[in-house]
Amino acid sequence: MIIGATGKIGGATLQLLADDRSADPLRLVAASRRPETVPARAGVEVRQLDLDTAELQGLSALVEAMAGIDRLLLITGYGVRMLTQSKVAIDAARIAGVRQVVHIGAHAAADTTVVHLGWHQLIEAYLAASGMAFTNLRPTALMQNLMLLIDVGGVRGTDVLPHYLGSEPTSWVDVADVAAVAARVLRDPVPHAGRSYGLGTESLTMAEIATLLGEVTGRPWRDEARHPDRFLDAVVAAGADPVYMECVRNIFVRTAAGTLPDLNETFDTVERLVGRPAITMRSFLDRHHQQLS
Ligand SMILES: NC(=O)c1ccc[n+]([C@@H]2O[C@H](COP(=O)([O-])OP(=O)(O)OC[C@H]3O[C@@H](n4cnc5c(N)ncnc54)[C@H](OP(=O)(O)O)[C@@H]3O)[C@@H](O)[C@H]2O)c1
Repeated sequence: MIIGATGKIGGATLQLLADDRSADPLRLVAASRRPETVPARAGVEVRQLDLDTAELQGLSALVEAMAGIDRLLLITGYGVRMLTQSKVAIDAARIAGVRQVVHIGAHAAADTTVVHLGWHQLIEAYLAASGMAFTNLRPTALMQNLMLLIDVGGVRGTDVLPHYLGSEPTSWVDVADVAAVAARVLRDPVPHAGRSYGLGTESLTMAEIATLLGEVTGRPWRDEARHPDRFLDAVVAAGADPVYMECVRNIFVRTAAGTLPDLNETFDTVERLVGRPAITMRSFLDRHHQQLS
C-alpha cells in the first residue's frame, strides 16, 4: 500500500511498481482521501483512507483500509499534521499486521535543530519502537521544488530563477530517484529492514542551476536571491501551513548563512540500490525545463 499515492513521490513509486513486469508481480494498493483522484491503472486497487479522521473516529477505519497489507510506503504532506498522521498510520499498520513500513522522511544531521526535520526523526523513532520492520528514506531538496520556486516567485516566462539560499550550495535529488529507491525496497524489503538511506545526489548553488538552465534552453537564465520571508509570505498566502513553512524559511536562512552543512550532503544510495547512476540536475532540466518556462 502506498499512502501518498496521489503525490509526487508516491505517484512516481506507484507508477514504477505498476510498470514492473517482474515474474512475481506485487499486489498494489493506492490509498487516498479521495479515491476518485487516483488515476486508474491495471493491477492497482484503490482504497479510501484519511489519516485525519482518527482523532474523532479512532483507528478502526484505518486498520480496515490496511487489511491484508504486507508493506506500507508512508508519505505525508507539508504540514504540522504530519506528526499525528504518521503516528496513527504506524499504529494502524501495526494492528493490521503490516510487516514492513518504508517511511519517506528528510535528510538531516541526527542532532538537527531544524524543527520539521526533527519531526521526521521523531516519526522514525516511533516507527522503530513499533515492532514492525522499517526502512527510512531521507531525501534532500527535491529537484521538483524548482517549479515551486518559479511559481512562488511570480516570474514564470521571464528566465529568472528566484530563490532564498544566497550563494550557498545545497543537495538535490530527483523525485524519480527517490521513487526508484522506494520501489526497490518495497519489492524486496527484507535486506533493507532496519536501514536508513540518505537520498541527495548532487550539490549545486542556485547560480549553477541557472547556468544549467541557460545551457539547456539556449536562453540567458539568471538566479535572483531574495529574502526568505518573501517565500514564507507567498506560500502562506497561497494556503500552505504556516507552521511547516516557517521551518522551510528557516532552512533557507541557515543555508544562506552556511550553518546547515548537513543539507549539502550527497549519497551513493541510488547507484547502490537501483544499480544505475543517479539523475543529474542537467538531465532533470533537459526533461522538465518546459515546466519552468
Ligand atoms: N520537497 C522537498 O524538497 C522534500 C525534501 C525532503 C523530504 N520531503 C518530504 O516528502 C514528503 C512529501 O512528499 P511529496 O512531495 O511526494 O508529497 P505531496 O506531493 O505533497 O503529496 C502528499 C500526499 O499526502 C497525502 N495525504 C495528505 N494528507 C493526507 C491524509 N490526511 N490522509 C491520507 N493521505 C494524506 C496526499 O494524498 P491525498 O490527497 O490523495 O489524500 C498526497 O498524496 C514530506 O514528508 C516532506 O517532508 C520533501
